[in-house]
Amino acid sequence: MIRMTRRCHNEQSPEKIELTRRKLLAGAGKLAAGAALATAGGFSLASMASAKSTYPWPHKKIDVQEAGNIAYENWYKDYCCYATVSGVLIPLQKSVGEPYASLPLEAFRFGHGGTVGWGTLCGTLLGGAIAASFVAGKEGEKISNDVIAWYSATELPIYKPANPKATFKHVNKSDSPLCHVSVSKWMEKEGVEFFTPQRKDRCARLSADVAMKTATLLNAWAAGTYKPVHGSQAKTHNRPSQNNCDGCHG
Ligand code: HEC
Repeated sequence: MIRMTRRCHNEQSPEKIELTRRKLLAGAGKLAAGAALATAGGFSLASMASAKSTYPWPHKKIDVQEAGNIAYENWYKDYCCYATVSGVLIPLQKSVGEPYASLPLEAFRFGHGGTVGWGTLCGTLLGGAIAASFVAGKEGEKISNDVIAWYSATELPIYKPANPKATFKHVNKSDSPLCHVSVSKWMEKEGVEFFTPQRKDRCARLSADVAMKTATLLNAWAAGTYKPVHGSQAKTHNRPSQNNCDGCHG
């Protein structure tokens, strides 16, 4: 039955079909030629195509303080993950240009709140890891491993904004890369709720810290002086894991 129906709808002879296919291909060729010449927002589609095939992308020394300042300000635009990626990559959009310039950084907004509010990996760490991957490729994983270890073991935030949008008293060591754990411990210590100016500024400053740490390690990597310090989590625990076993297993 099905085959019959299909034949009914397809009354063209094989020759005719082949002709149509050739016409289509010729048309597609013209389209492609046109597209190669067309420009969109100052860059040609041809250059976009070549940008796609390059990975990782070129590095130029990142101004670490600038990375922090951008991340802090951009937290207030699209939150932690976007803030951190943009802190590292906007300086490269300016200094290197393409392919960084065409990357829509807003695409990484989704990492906020440990990925759309699910409290998993801190969005700053996800953002830093995305940036490190674009710049250093596979080597970026070692950098991210070190950044995550550092984040978990450090009293944060460290960054001091020139014009703070809010002030608060406490720093905190999370012992965990999880958004939920990190932010909850800090809120408990500071005595504030999640939807407060203090908590927002804490996360904005954390974004600056992670952008600066990532940029620092990427600069060292590019200069050939980077030495990974943290070992493999999976090999250490014989499974992918965080270190704070007691935090969940009691
Ligand atoms: C973020 C919370 C969290 C952390 C941190 C964590 N675990 Fe787990 N782990 C769990 C949960 C949840 C389960 C599932 C338990 C269940 O439902 O029975 C689990 C299961 C396990 C299991 C198998 C089942 C069981 O309950 O024994 C082992 C073994 C284990 N974890 C070991 C570890 C070790 C070792 C570490 C630290 C190196 C660790 N875990 C860190 C949350 C965590």
